[in-house]
Amino acid sequence: MKRLSLLLLSLALPFSLMIGCEQSGSKNADLQARVDSLQNKLDSAYVPGTGAIMNTIVQPHHLKLWFAGQNKNWALAEYERQELMGGFEKIQTLHKNKPAATAVAMIFPAMDAIEKAIREKDGNAFKSNFVVLTNTCNTCHQALKYEFNVIKVPVTNSFDDQRF
Ligand code: HEC
Repeated sequence: MKRLSLLLLSLALPFSLMIGCEQSGSKNADLQARVDSLQNKLDSAYVPGTGAIMNTIVQPHHLKLWFAGQNKNWALAEYERQELMGGFEKIQTLHKNKPAATAVAMIFPAMDAIEKAIREKDGNAFKSNFVVLTNTCNTCHQALKYEFNVIKVPVTNSFDDQRF
């Protein structure tokens, strides 16, 4: 009886292995198809360029940060600072191997000084560090040969529908 079952087992084993192989073969093909379709999605996904990030994140939050700080609205100022920081971080993560991703670090000391001024509710420190921040925007533009994009401390608030 023992021999018979050993014999049956030795006959059945190669069969079950063959079926197993076939199954894992079609599983691999399934997985490959999924990987290919995800790769296609990634390739066609929209990645905002540095110019778009500047226009839609950095520029508006730079302006809003100024008016929030001028009005000593520190909670709003901190929010705007974080949004602005988010724009710079996007350049680092989305454009890793481009010159802008390396150059963007030059703005961090000014951003840190503004964070401190907000935390300490220090209007004068806020003002002077905002000027440093704005100068650094331009230093980076010059470094990357976009010197014609000149940023200044804003005078009028173009976001008239928001209370600062
Ligand atoms: C990495 C260095 C860097 C820093 C720091 C930087 N920028 Fe820029 N900025 C660029 C580059 C590069 C471009 C041009 C990108 C392009 O057109 O592809 C640009 C373009 C711009 C533009 C032009 C967008 C347009 O379409 O007219 C504005 C506005 C701008 N930046 C605002 C700012 C402000 C405000 C700051 C500071 C708070 C700042 N940038 C800091 C690199 C930088």
